[in-house]
Amino acid sequence: HELKMNLEQIEKGGYDHFMLKEIYEQPHAITDTFRGRLLVNEGIIRMAGIDDHIEKFQNANRIIVVACGTSWHAGLVGEYLFEDLARIPVEVEYASEFRYRNPIITEKDVVIAISQSGETADTLAAIKLAKEKGAFVFGVCNVVGSSIARETHAGAYTHAGPEIGVASTKAFTTQITLLSLIALKLGKANGNLSHGQYHAYLNEMELIPRKVEVLLSMNELVQHVASIYKDVPNCLYLGRGYNFPVALEGALKLKEISYIHAEGYPAAEMKHGPIALIDENMPVIVIATSKGHYEKVVSNIQEIKSRKGKIIAIVTEGDTQVKEIADHVIEIPETDELFTPLLTTIPLQLLSYHIAVMLGKNVDQPRNLAKSVTVE
Ligand code: G6P
Repeated sequence: HELKMNLEQIEKGGYDHFMLKEIYEQPHAITDTFRGRLLVNEGIIRMAGIDDHIEKFQNANRIIVVACGTSWHAGLVGEYLFEDLARIPVEVEYASEFRYRNPIITEKDVVIAISQSGETADTLAAIKLAKEKGAFVFGVCNVVGSSIARETHAGAYTHAGPEIGVASTKAFTTQITLLSLIALKLGKANGNLSHGQYHAYLNEMELIPRKVEVLLSMNELVQHVASIYKDVPNCLYLGRGYNFPVALEGALKLKEISYIHAEGYPAAEMKHGPIALIDENMPVIVIATSKGHYEKVVSNIQEIKSRKGKIIAIVTEGDTQVKEIADHVIEIPETDELFTPLLTTIPLQLLSYHIAVMLGKNVDQPRNLAKSVTVE
């Protein structure tokens, strides 16, 4: 028993929990995702899984993403990326709904299945269905040699390394990194992205791991915020555009490991329901990056403030407007809007981690949850 304990401590590499270790691994994990693929000097994104089937993507009527849980959230970011950069229509589906809906799938559809474990039963079943209907199926998996990796026509690994914590962290950011690479590659291939814009994005992507480190260095600030709100029964997360899925993911993280009820919402939808819940006891985490519909999100923040809600805002460094209204502000380094999910996610992961630790919850193995769900 003692030996096992020691082994586990060694595996955690000095961190108290696997989740924290994996949060801190993200600069490296993201680098590993684009290593050998993002060739900035040559101005190339090299991905054999895409290159070998580029005509499938270029002739696609649409891309259908199938996934579950956190991977589904990454898929939602993918929807913004693919539509924005490559102008290919995208639908993002819960694998469990898709597979039983008698969905319309044709040979002109490309299905992208996203799965950390590569073993999720519903996602696997959705892939089989899509293949039967003649679609081209591309896998985005972390676990090498997993069932989904083997069942798909082609794919790309995220190379995040083993993720042990049940709550997904580095798998999510590396999935988004990989989807960004694919979207940039397709946008370039189909002529939608100008030469200059494409190169600017490539350059910026290479800087992301360093910017993630900057956010990790704000751990103490996030811990302080966690200590203030750890006992709340509810929490609301708002984001817009690229950061709407991040709001969903932030809320999921809090639910999963702290068992606090949390909801993620597109900021503008707040007025259609969640605003009724806001009072002085309700913390609202708002992502308000400078290029993401900033003014509109600021007016949402004002609406929260006037109802005495507590505001924890994630903003771009140099922000002045939100700082004046919010109770707490976490600044992310400047970047292109499409890369902001890779940064805004970090403090939300840390926030849920610290709250769960403070509440004495089992962070790495939350009750009722499994790392991979191989039954439907
Ligand atoms: C479980 C895990 C989640 C994960 C989801 C999908 O619910 O607890 O963290 O996001 O399955 O898993 P996958 O391996 O397909 O990404």
